[in-house]
Amino acid sequence: MGSEHRHAPLPIHGVAVLPQGLEDIGSQELQALGAKQITPLRRAASFESDMACLYRLHLQCRLPFRLLREMARFRCDGRDSLYDGVQQALDWERWLHPSMSFRVDVTGTAPGLKHSHFTALQVKNALIDRQRDLWGKRSSINLDEPDLCLHVHLHRDEAVLSLDGSGGSLHRRGYRAAVGVAPLKENLAAGLIRLTGWDGSTPLTDPCCGSGTLLIEAAAMALQRFPALHRNFLLESWADFEPDLWNAEQQRAQKRQQPVDNPPRILGYEQDSKIAQQARDNIRAAGLEEVIEIVEADFRDAPAPEEDHGVVVCNPPYGVRLGDSIELQELYRELGAVLKKDYGGWDLWLLSGNRELTGALRLKARRRIPVNNGGLDCRWLHYELNRRLR
Ligand SMILES: C[S@@+](CC[C@H](N)C(=O)[O-])C[C@H]1O[C@@H](n2cnc3c(N)ncnc32)[C@H](O)[C@@H]1O
Repeated sequence: MGSEHRHAPLPIHGVAVLPQGLEDIGSQELQALGAKQITPLRRAASFESDMACLYRLHLQCRLPFRLLREMARFRCDGRDSLYDGVQQALDWERWLHPSMSFRVDVTGTAPGLKHSHFTALQVKNALIDRQRDLWGKRSSINLDEPDLCLHVHLHRDEAVLSLDGSGGSLHRRGYRAAVGVAPLKENLAAGLIRLTGWDGSTPLTDPCCGSGTLLIEAAAMALQRFPALHRNFLLESWADFEPDLWNAEQQRAQKRQQPVDNPPRILGYEQDSKIAQQARDNIRAAGLEEVIEIVEADFRDAPAPEEDHGVVVCNPPYGVRLGDSIELQELYRELGAVLKKDYGGWDLWLLSGNRELTGALRLKARRRIPVNNGGLDCRWLHYELNRRLR
């Protein structure tokens, strides 16, 4: 083999686990950060990358829950082949010293392996038996803060063993101590903002902002702030971790961050004073208090914006979790009326979990994108509000 080949980096096969409905936009994010061979799947997208790109994805992606690096793929038609396959999947002497704790996550099923808890136990047994053979000792299991997080996906009669580079879900950005009422997950909010195509050059307003998730994710995106930059990742204790490459990717992400000299105008209304305060606390924790303003008010009492274009994003209450239907009909009717009167020329994106309520807006949606919000089947609806006559 020529030297060129010897030094060519091996491709990493990976999977980004995504909120349902964000598979395409999530694939675009992977592509923009340098991943190749991307295929959108259900609630996921598969990709290929080199190690630098895998590090970059961990540091800069906003949409995935987690990023999985495939380490082995083997035939699995029951307990025994799972046990043998796991033992042979990796050089465990390098990857899992008994001083390290671990956790096993399981998705999917295979013949004789229908229950994920049972499957995880088989994987754990295979690993600790291997460790006992090697060292006479075994690792402990740590579900909350393991040193190594293994993921096993079963499909038909195949198993894929992957490593989870973050351990905890990437939607947890660290800014949300306060959760408001029915908050959106941060990665879903980021995906919804991406779908609007908002680029930070026009104002963005949320008339029912709750704990501020859409506003915070929008601001972080506009200013290229990467919440994962200061987080500890499990990939830092992988056997083949490359600290220089990791530092280079951290610096690369750092350099992309924009100063706040010409901030976009980002504004939220929240009528509940406690929730408005939670939004302010979250915004401060995210370091975005210079760019996001929270007004404690009913949006119906808010003045019309001066700008004749911008983006309104809105996740109003929709009844499954909050509020009562007749009151909500009235709220949507008035929201539609206020938007038509005051926001002509703006784009509206509204998350709907209830068709009847969105009918009360009396606006015609141009696009309806299905998304799953915490198990609820929702639509991210796009409306163009007619230009105001001035
Ligand atoms: C579904 S929650 C929004 C959650 C938000 N996206 C988040 O992630 O935290 C809807 C919010 O709208 C607020 N709200 C309801 N009616 C309002 C009104 N007329 N004016 C302003 N806020 C209102 C509620 O208090 C609630 O916090």
